[in-house]
Amino acid sequence: MSTTLAFDVYGTLVDTHGVVAALQGLIGDNAANFSQTWRDKQLEYSFRRGLMQNYEPFTVCTSNALDYTCMFYGVDLTQEQKAMLLASYRSLPAFKDVEDGLKNLTANNYRLFAFSNGTANAVKGLLLEAGIRGYFEGVVSVDDLKSFKPNPAVYSHFLREAQAKGSDAWLISSNPFDVIGAISAGMRAAWVKRSRDAIFDPWGIDPTITVENLGELLEKLPGK
Ligand code: 2OP
Repeated sequence: MSTTLAFDVYGTLVDTHGVVAALQGLIGDNAANFSQTWRDKQLEYSFRRGLMQNYEPFTVCTSNALDYTCMFYGVDLTQEQKAMLLASYRSLPAFKDVEDGLKNLTANNYRLFAFSNGTANAVKGLLLEAGIRGYFEGVVSVDDLKSFKPNPAVYSHFLREAQAKGSDAWLISSNPFDVIGAISAGMRAAWVKRSRDAIFDPWGIDPTITVENLGELLEKLPGK
């Protein structure tokens, strides 16, 4: 049986800070900080909705987080400007190492899935826009369970959908909370540490492997 790889999407395959260029035109120099707060709040809202068992799709977390971030920075955007920013979130760029990395893994018989907080439709659209949809055997979304990462149930759901066992299935993610969630739920996990400054949460649950880009996966993962 081939090794199964579950790729996190936002922040791992596509760059959530791809919105910075659009933001610069609207708010200038504070665009990078704004983008970081927006992303942090989006994730916080998903964690809170998961715990509260008060689910709304990830797009709602993204939109609510944008409203919060505008208030936080005292930025007054029109509905049209917000709609334009949310539209740019539907066509985020893939990181530059992604396409070649996926191509090599596919050529070496790994089974590739996208596994995300985003709905299946949103993720399929993103992957198509980024030109990488064809590398994935399937797309698995937390939306099936109406919960979010890192609820252990969503990782079990992934294993069932992909017909894989935790001992043969790897989460591939740049998001430390996702890596810790997958390992805690019985999967293995690779942390994609693209930036030297990225910090892994010091919880005593370490990534099974750490790579600097998707190209390194082929040499560091156990055989297919
Ligand atoms: C994803 O599930 C965690 O945002 C990340 O795609």
